[in-house]
Amino acid sequence: MRDHDAPDEAVRRWRETAALPDAVLIDGFHALKHTLRFGGEVREVLTTDRAALAALAGDLADDVARTVTAAAVEVPSRVLRELVARPHPTGVAALAIRPSADAVLAALRGTPRQAPVVVLDNPRNLGNIGAVVRLAAGFGATGVITTGDIDPWHPNVVRAGAGLHFATAVARLAVPELPDGPLYVLDPEGEDIRSVTVPDDALLAFGSERHGVSPELRARATRLLAIPMRPQVSSFNLATSVGMGLFHWMTHSPSAPAPA
Ligand SMILES: C[S@@+](CC[C@H](N)C(=O)[O-])C[C@H]1O[C@@H](n2cnc3c(N)ncnc32)[C@H](O)[C@@H]1O
Repeated sequence: MRDHDAPDEAVRRWRETAALPDAVLIDGFHALKHTLRFGGEVREVLTTDRAALAALAGDLADDVARTVTAAAVEVPSRVLRELVARPHPTGVAALAIRPSADAVLAALRGTPRQAPVVVLDNPRNLGNIGAVVRLAAGFGATGVITTGDIDPWHPNVVRAGAGLHFATAVARLAVPELPDGPLYVLDPEGEDIRSVTVPDDALLAFGSERHGVSPELRARATRLLAIPMRPQVSSFNLATSVGMGLFHWMTHSPSAPAPA
């Protein structure tokens, strides 16, 4: 990341970086804060108000404030709107480079695993995927794997994940490519999760919003686990189910994050 001062040059570089296949839009201050905290490679930072950004960074993220303000180049709102479809209310946007596929796979396949990998089987909702990345980061999960056709690095997923893709390992894989490990599949038809300890090396898998767990994943399951629900409620939302599954793992695991 370089220290910029010329808006035209910064815009030219933005366009050049945005065209790279591994460029990721980091939308808003909180996403930028997390990207920097977790070692994301940030290339360009644009803001519509440098003084306001410096004040916000000083208030909310002292640890990265100096880096943010050194990198930010002020551009008119009109220019930011040309580059970013719907600029975040904090008036800051950045471009980062996503980690290499090899690095992500090494993290997901590394052994011994200290915390589960979350598997989302053909998820459809970008907001849900982002929320799950955020949960995985917060719970210290090893990573998030999605199957199916949606890129879990889609800009709307990164936006919903508040920049926390850089705090965990996020990849799309086919079911046969999943890392080794016991496969604990969450499904309302399973056994009561409260009677089961989820091991640290588990793959903790969840079905799609529309159709639930695919037959392919179900056939591979080590165990099927249900989160109890009141009768007549058919299912919980996908992301909330992941939150409950990870929380259940956390309550039994010495590897789970300790309170701050
Ligand atoms: C919105 S639900 C899927 C609903 C879908 N219509 C179905 O038929 O299963 C998405 C996923 O969340 C998880 N889930 C939701 N409620 C659950 C529960 N009570 N117990 C275990 N998993 C649950 C499952 O993995 C499920 O596939």
